[in-house]
Amino acid sequence: MPRDDVSAPAGAAARARLDELWARGCAFLGTRVAIMGGAMSWVSERHLVSGISNAGGFGVIACGSMGPELLAAEIAATQAMTQNPFGVNLITMHPQLDDLVRVCIEAGVGHVVLAGGIPPGNAVRAVKDGGAKLVAFTPALVLAKRLVRSGVDALVIEGSEAGGHIGPVSLTVLAQEILPHIKDVPVFVAGGLGRGEAILSYLEMGASGVQLGTRFAAATESIAHENFKRAFVRANARDALPSIQLDERFPVIPVRGLVNAGTKRFLEHQALTLARFQAGELSKEAAQLDIEHFWAGALRRAVIDGDVENGSVMAGQSVGLVTSVQGVAEIIEELTQQAVMALAARR
Ligand SMILES: Cc1cc2nc3c(=O)[nH]c(=O)nc-3n(C[C@H](O)[C@H](O)[C@H](O)COP(=O)(O)O)c2cc1C
Repeated sequence: MPRDDVSAPAGAAARARLDELWARGCAFLGTRVAIMGGAMSWVSERHLVSGISNAGGFGVIACGSMGPELLAAEIAATQAMTQNPFGVNLITMHPQLDDLVRVCIEAGVGHVVLAGGIPPGNAVRAVKDGGAKLVAFTPALVLAKRLVRSGVDALVIEGSEAGGHIGPVSLTVLAQEILPHIKDVPVFVAGGLGRGEAILSYLEMGASGVQLGTRFAAATESIAHENFKRAFVRANARDALPSIQLDERFPVIPVRGLVNAGTKRFLEHQALTLARFQAGELSKEAAQLDIEHFWAGALRRAVIDGDVENGSVMAGQSVGLVTSVQGVAEIIEELTQQAVMALAARR
């Protein structure tokens, strides 16, 4: 769709070039655009997932801690809301992983995303034997190669700019490390993406498509509380920071989210727990558990209850690019247009 400052033929040629660049990703996902909505616990349920898939992208249900029955119900409800493909994201350390994979296969889910660690061999086989495509995350090139050898059908590389649980390396570096060397399967890039020009640049580096979370979390179709969305609209990139670990003896899993009263109290809580450990009041194990339990239920508190001061407001640095609550179709159209316009502006 050309704009005033771009001629119709130039616009059409640019759109055709974009379609060429993400053709492999679109074919893999079965979509019109190679934009995946990254799974987000509590957020990526039937409404947002079907909204993204209906708009031509690829929605992914976040199973999180759901059991098999709840997951089966969520898949059925999503299928009732869209005819288009969508995926399911399962966390590898879920105690009922095998049952959850079976639920996906029985429901005819076409793509299973295994997140949160190296996918166990039996889960890989179960997904593939069931006829679904398997998507996995990789934090480094060696693991990417191992995953491809083990039969993974596509990879996601997620930079530390992303919202939620993060690794230590930015997408800028991960993309350079991995994209030139992994050609056997499509690679989708995630973390910090909020505009079409950036999407275009990663496609040109060899990515087959992209995954976005933060921009979709604040979409109209997202069931997140309006306080959560308002916090996204207000925040700048610099407000989305990783959780801080006070003492290396007590590891804290890095999670990127908006700083608030909760993140400040988390530091105080760690200091207090450390003091109790040093005074001999708590064993090392008890102190570690005490630190880990601090955030239990905190994402739900922010997303569903709207307590954005004390809950965990997971958000990526791209939160600075969220300037209003928009419908999913509008977000996808905007991203696509920005990529097309960037291509059309070239001489
Ligand atoms: C609120 C929130 C919750 C998330 N929860 C999950 C999750 O449960 N599982 C997962 O694999 N990724 C999760 N993510 C990461 C997203 O799927 C996606 O990869 C990431 O948001 C991409 O980076 P961006 O936020 O810069 O767009 C979450 C992200 C956010 C913002």
